[in-house]
This record gives sequence, C-alpha cells and structure tokens, in this order.
Amino acid sequence: MDMIINKSKGLRGELTIPGDKSISHRAIMFGALANGTTRITNFLQGADCLSTIGCFQAMGIDIENNISDVMIHGKGLHGLQEADHMLDVGNSGTTTRLISGILAGQNFSTTLNGDASIQKRPMKRIMEPLSLMGANIRSMKDNGCAPLEIHPSTLHGIHYNSPVASAQVKSCVLLAGLYADAPTSVTEPVLSRNHTELMLNGFGANVTSVGTTAMIQPNPTLIGQDIAVPGDISSAAYWIVAGLAVPNSELVLKNVGINPTRDGILRVVEAMGADIKRENVHTVSGELVCDLIIKSSSLHGTTVGGELIPTLIDEIPAIAVLACFAEGETIIKDAQELKVKESNRIDTVVEGLRAMGADATATDDGMIIHGGRQLHGAVIDSHLDHRIAMSFAIAGLLCDEPTTILSADSVAISYPDFYESITKISV
Ligand code: S3P
Repeated sequence: MDMIINKSKGLRGELTIPGDKSISHRAIMFGALANGTTRITNFLQGADCLSTIGCFQAMGIDIENNISDVMIHGKGLHGLQEADHMLDVGNSGTTTRLISGILAGQNFSTTLNGDASIQKRPMKRIMEPLSLMGANIRSMKDNGCAPLEIHPSTLHGIHYNSPVASAQVKSCVLLAGLYADAPTSVTEPVLSRNHTELMLNGFGANVTSVGTTAMIQPNPTLIGQDIAVPGDISSAAYWIVAGLAVPNSELVLKNVGINPTRDGILRVVEAMGADIKRENVHTVSGELVCDLIIKSSSLHGTTVGGELIPTLIDEIPAIAVLACFAEGETIIKDAQELKVKESNRIDTVVEGLRAMGADATATDDGMIIHGGRQLHGAVIDSHLDHRIAMSFAIAGLLCDEPTTILSADSVAISYPDFYESITKISV
C-alpha cells in the first residue's frame, strides 16, 4: 500500500499513545513463564507483538487476545512445550533475541525464523554470550542470521561484557540466566533500556542493577501480574516532531512512558529549544508515565551522541526530520547501531531527506543535517521499515507538494492506527 501525505495547516488535539512495544513483548514472555494468570492492558496490537504471542501459543501457552486486554495463562519457568513447527518471529528483532535466551534453557529443540529483514539482522551478538553459557545455538545459514536452531543443554552462569549497548542482547542473556546454574550478569558499554530488569523483578525475579551491570539470580518462581503498558515514547516521537515543526500546532499526548533509559528524545528537543511540558507524571506498573504538551517552536540544531544514543535509538529517524526544521547544524554520532535495524537507517534516512531536498550527509556513525531548507514532496521508499514510513509521513506534513510513502502499511509493525491519528489531529 502507498500513502499520500499533504502539507498540514496545523495539528491540534489529544492523542492517547498506543502501548510500548518493548514492554508489550516482555509482558507476554514473562507472563508465559510465570505461574498463574497475567492480565495486560494497553497491549500494543502491532504485528511484532503479535509475533511474540504466536510463538508462545505455539509452545503451548494459552493466550487470549481480547484487544482491550490480553490474558496469559502462564505455566511457570519450566512449562513451555516443544512447538510442532518452526517459530515465526515475523519482522521482530526483540522477539528473536529475547526468545532465544529463553529457548536456550529449555529441554526441547526449537528452530525459529522470520521475514527477509530478520534474516539479515545480526544474531552473533546473542549466539556468542549464549554459547559462553553453554547453550547449543546455531545459525542455519553461514551469515550468523536467522533461521536459528536451538537445542537443549546445561546453562552456566557467566559474567558477560557486551560490546554493544543493546537491551535485546542484555535481556537475552538475563533470560537465559533464569535457567543457569549460578548468577548471570551483563555489563554494557552504555546503559540500554531497563524494562526487562524492572518487569522481571515485578514478577518476582531477583535482578540487581549497578551502573551498566545487571545481575540475575537463577530459578526464581515468577508469579502472574496485572500489567498496564505505558504509551510508547517511540510512537509519541512522531507527534513530538510534528507538533514542534508544523506551524499552528498544539498537541496533548496522553500516557507516554518516560523511563529515563528511553526519554532521550525529550532531552534533545528541549536542548533544541522546544516548547514541551511534562504533566501528570506518575508510575504505572513500575514505569514512569506522563502527558506531554507540545507547541510549535523555533528550534536550533544540536549534537546527539554518547550516552544519549541508546535512550533514543529508535527515534533518530524522527529527530533527523526535525533537524531539517531547526536553524543550523545537527550532528548525530555514535549511532552505528542504526545500520542493523529494520533497514540501514543511516542510509534510508539520508536517502529520504535528500530526496526531499534536505542538506543531509551520512557519516560512519550517524549523519549531519543543516536545517533551514524548505523540503519538497517526494516519493519515499520505506524499505518496509515502519519507522522510516512514519518519519517521512511526518516530513510530508511539512512539504509544499504531496509526498508518497511506498509500502506505507509497514507502520502496522508498531503503530497500526498511525495514519488515522494524522487525520484525527489535522485542523
Ligand atoms: C529493543 C531494544 C532496541 C530497540 C528495539 C527494541 C527492546 O534494540 O532498537 O526497537 O525491546 O529491547 P537493541 O537492543 O538492538 O538496541
């Protein structure tokens, strides 16, 4: 499906942000490994999270998806059963990497595979620490990617120094640590999102965090929980950018998760001079949440790098669009991880921005953008990457001529109602 986006005359009103993708995945996984029932509200009904549900159903877990809530009838840490077919992880890196940690500790074999994009995502980053723990995991291709084959083995507790700041790697190792014979810890170069640590503790596990090291004790009894999923700041990012850059805008975004390991976009737009307020700050299921009030603003360029990067890694395509509407130079650096997302997001972002007439240059670890040029409508290939489709749809709201997004339906991965929301807030 292609989508045509026209210039906006202003964005006004209120949006309730759909559930956080990272937290929705984890709620299904931990609910499946818990004893008793877990009830999830505001679960993200995106294709990625539905892939996670499908994998656990295939392993014998009874999951009722009632849309308004999801009920998981967990069978405990050792209650999963061998699937009678290959697990389908779809487009989801989070499903692949986290579930591999769980599967490494099972007494049955599993193969898993996903779409063309997942078959290009690097899996050596999880195979290496899992192998150090004694896991029997291998890529069925010679490129270290899915499909993956995982066989039973005895897992040992290890300390792993991760070369990448990746919550997926960290979570994979911690989840394998549930099944290990001794405590398991992971140190990462920079702290990544900590939803696994927070939520596992909520289910009754013992995870401690000191600086960039997280440690898990093996073999806990997990107990089913009620989880209210906060709105996804990665989805709110599109409206933050649109509300700031489109003249005559004022938006209220309800129920946005602002966990400090995820809120980098707020810190960046504030540094750029944004008129953005956090109201009604409170905690839901152990996660910090607030409403955001955003008004059109005059912005200036900034530098985004270092420890900020993991706190906004998925928001960089949207931040790059915003940088085109800021005075002066924006430098995004230390973001090599962008190359191994659903697309190579350094290339796909710079390609799209240049097609719209922006002054954007790719670098080895990010990009440099000089703001202030009027963008023009263009045909943008989303490369089947949901965040590229949404970022350029927002850019399209700011172009004089219409913009066409190719494969625009990729938004269903993380934000099925995205285009309806544009219509809802357009004046
Ligand atoms: C995620 C972690 C991040 C992020 C992804 C979701 C998670 O990936 O980009 O969208 O839920 O743990 P990495 O761990 O590869 O950085």
